Formats: sequence, C-alpha cells, structure tokens
Amino acid sequence: MANYRHLVFFTGAGMSVESGIPTYRGSGGVWAQYNYQEYACQEAFERDPEKVWDFHDRRRELIAGCQPNAGHRIIAKAAAHYPRVTVITQNIDGLHQRAGSREVIELHGSIWRLVCAATGEVRENFEVPLRNRRCRPDCYWRPDIVWFGDPLRAETIEAAVAALKDCDLFLSIGTSAVVYPAARLPLIAMESGAHTIEINPEETELSSLYRETRRQTASEALRELFPALAAV
Ligand code: APR
Repeated sequence: MANYRHLVFFTGAGMSVESGIPTYRGSGGVWAQYNYQEYACQEAFERDPEKVWDFHDRRRELIAGCQPNAGHRIIAKAAAHYPRVTVITQNIDGLHQRAGSREVIELHGSIWRLVCAATGEVRENFEVPLRNRRCRPDCYWRPDIVWFGDPLRAETIEAAVAALKDCDLFLSIGTSAVVYPAARLPLIAMESGAHTIEINPEETELSSLYRETRRQTASEALRELFPALAAV
C-alpha cells in the first residue's frame, strides 16, 4: 500500500454501519421501514413538509449520537501518509469530516446542511431537532440532500470524475452499487487503470469487475490494508 500517489475511497452506507447507522437496503434497512416516496423525495416534501422533516429530524437525532468508527479514522489518517486522498461518499452523515477527512465529495449532500428554496441560501445546521423548520414565513428549509429523482450537482460530478480519472488506487467500501449515477463511478477508476478493491461483506453487481474483493466489514479490511494507520 506504500507507493500509491492518489487514493480514492468511495463509500456507501456500509461504511457507517460500525458507527451504529443502519444501511438503506438489506435487513433492517431504512427503506425497509420507510417508503422513500413518502419521506425522501421532492414530491413528498411539497406534499407534506412536516412529515418529511419529522423523518429527517429522526435521522439527525440518530446520527448525532453516533461517532466515526475505526474505518473512518484510518481513511482520515491516510491523508498524512499519501500525496493525495479523496473521499467520494454517498453518505449524508458527515462522519468522514468528523473523523478528520478534508477532501470529501458528498455526492448526495448532507443532512447537516439546509437550503432555502426561495433564496438559494445554504446553511450548515447541527440542531437536533431543527428548531425552526422555516427559512421564511412562506418557505420551509429543505435538507440539502440529493433525494430520489433529484439530479446530482454538476460541480460535484465533475470533481468526482476528475479524482477518479487521476487516482491509482480505488477502494469501494460499503455500497450496494444499485443507485445511479453513483454506481457508475467505479467504472471510471477501472478505465483509468487504477488498482481497484471492493470492501463489502456481500457480493454486488460490480464485484466481478474489481481487481480485488474483500468480503469483510469496512474496519476489518481497512485495518488489514493499512496496518500502520490502524496502529497510530
Ligand atoms: N462494512 C462494509 N459494508 C457493509 C457493512 C460493513 N460493516 N455492513 C453492510 N455493508 C454493505 C451491505 O452489504 C450493502 O452492500 O453496505 C451496503 C449498503 O448498501 P445500501 O444500503 O444500498 O447503501 P448505499 O449503497 O450507500 O446506497 C446508495 O441509495 O438510498 C440511496 O441515497 C441513498 O446514498 C444512498 C444510495
């Protein structure tokens, strides 16, 4: 692992399981309990903003009580040991940043940011629960999250694609690779000739395309791959 120049860690909900945050799919998944069409899309928000905010406040409350895990910390420490480390995450929990990662591309936004639809103002907010759900008397704050049906921001995709084209080591961690366009991003790293590793206790649709697959949890695999970082 010593001589790589640019590492990209591409993470999904499985990265945060060991912090106590459930995944979206599989047993106990969020979408097994909640129909995303009622809680996590623009149409639901316009139909019943209070119901959507109740759901997101519950998510904020759960996440606020969780800590980055050993896997997040190893990724954060990698930045001091390699010329460049980029985190491209599908997660909205902010745990990579709390662990100390600096270059983090949040493909699906963040549950800790709010957007005012009337003015476009974006604001960080860590209140649990959110004290004032309205940015103006006639307008609700919207969670700055890419919900189902929302486009990803062009600048976010551009930054991710540039990192994927430049990296020489690509590690996919804890994603089921079923949500597009995020699920297509690993193919860019593969085409750019990077060494690619998939870390996931389960097979995914893309597993056969990786140079290396590790049927382990995020922290188990990262401890083995980066023992010097796990020790410090
Ligand atoms: N370590 C690593 N991977 C794990 C662990 C673990 N401890 N536990 C579970 N996993 C794996 C599961 O096997 C699964 O493949 O994490 C993956 C989680 O898959 P999803 O729940 O589908 O999460 P993700 O791939 O991040 O979903 C993508 O879908 O709902 C939308 O916007 C949401 O960002 C999310 C996107």
